[in-house]
Order: sequence, then structure tokens, then C-alpha cells
Amino acid sequence: MPLLLALCAFHAAAHDVSARTPTPLTCGNASDAVPLYCLAYPGAVNDYFYSPIVGDIDLISHSDGYNLQGVACYVFTTQELSTIPLFHVYDSTTPDNLYTTSTGERDLALENGYLDAGTVAYIYPSQICGSVPFYRLYNAAGTAHYYTINGTERNALLAAGGWADEGIAGYVLDWSLCSP
Ligand SMILES: *[C@@H]1O[C@H](CO)[C@@H](O)[C@H](O)[C@H]1NC(C)=O
Ligand SMILES: *[C@@H]1O[C@H](CO)[C@@H](O)[C@H](O)[C@H]1NC(C)=O
Repeated sequence: MPLLLALCAFHAAAHDVSARTPTPLTCGNASDAVPLYCLAYPGAVNDYFYSPIVGDIDLISHSDGYNLQGVACYVFTTQELSTIPLFHVYDSTTPDNLYTTSTGERDLALENGYLDAGTVAYIYPSQICGSVPFYRLYNAAGTAHYYTINGTERNALLAAGGWADEGIAGYVLDWSLCSP
């Protein structure tokens, strides 16, 4: 599988270059990581919904008309060693789904009319345990937050215009790319 090998080489190189924190003695058990699915709302008013829960995906695709895009990355659904909660708040009018590890940002969104959807997943707060950045972008015209581990896609969206760089939401796993 040359493509998979190339991807693994790319991710390994990216990890070497950007790893700035020492590896702690404790990590989450990668065997427990599950896919975080991405769904997109079609049409002019863009929105992206992320969940590791198959029931959520069924619900939002059937009742709300979102389309499953695929697996965004891998996350934990219970708090594993060195992980922190990724909070989910949403505004169904714009619509927008916002994911953040910051309680301050979550609380500010709640004060501004967003609703609390609790903790969607547990992720790493820094690039440890073989994790990769989960890039966060924002489209003001569509009031849409978008998250991706794909640096090429992120750069392409920023270059295309309309998207603002909102940094890194946290660190997640993409080890499945390198699995047989
Ligand atoms: C990781 O999880 C797998 C599957 O649940 C389990 O078999 C294994 O013992 C766990 N490893 C550790 C170090 O806890
Ligand atoms: C990353 O994004 C680029 C640009 O959208 C795409 O061509 C490429 O297939 C993506 N890579 C992966 C591993 O999804």
C-alpha cells in the first residue's frame, strides 16, 4: 500500500518536527480510541457536526439532513490518562456546532445563546502519546466551525479564503492510518 506508507511517513515526519512537549509516562490506551465521525449540513448555510456515537449520527443524518463525511480522527469516549474533555455546544439557529476544551470559551458561548451538549470526547491537551493536532477553522459567512487533522486540507481552506485560522482544538489520534 504505497499511499498508506507515504501517509505514515508524512505523519511521522510532521510529528518529529512539531513535537515540543516531553512524552509523559502515562498515555491513554489506544485500543480504546474510537472514530470521531464528521457530518456536514449541505447547502449555503454550512455546519459540521462531530460525534463518536453512532446513534447521534443516525439521528442527525435522518432527522436533520446532515451527510456523513467520514472519520475525522480517533478519540476516547471515557477519560483516559492525560486526556481532557472536549466540550460541545451548539446554536441550532445559525446553525453552528462548536467544540472546545476551554471551559471559559464554552461558558462564554452558553452566555451568548449556545446550548450545552456536554462532553463529546476526551483528547490530549498537548502533542503527546502519538497524537496529532486537530486544527480548527471558522467560516464567518456560514457561521461554521470546521475541524481537521489534515494539514493540507487546512492550508487549502485558508488559501481559498472565507476561512479563519482558529488554531488547534486539541490533540487526537490518527493511528488508524498506519494500522494494517
Ligand atoms: C488496552 O485495551 C485493550 C482492549 O481493551 C486491553 O486488552 C489491554 O489490556 C489494555 N492495555 C492496557 C495497558 O491497559
Ligand atoms: C488531505 O487533504 C487533501 C486536500 O483536501 C486531500 O487531497 C488528501 O487526500 C487529504 N488526505 C487525507 C489523508 O485525507
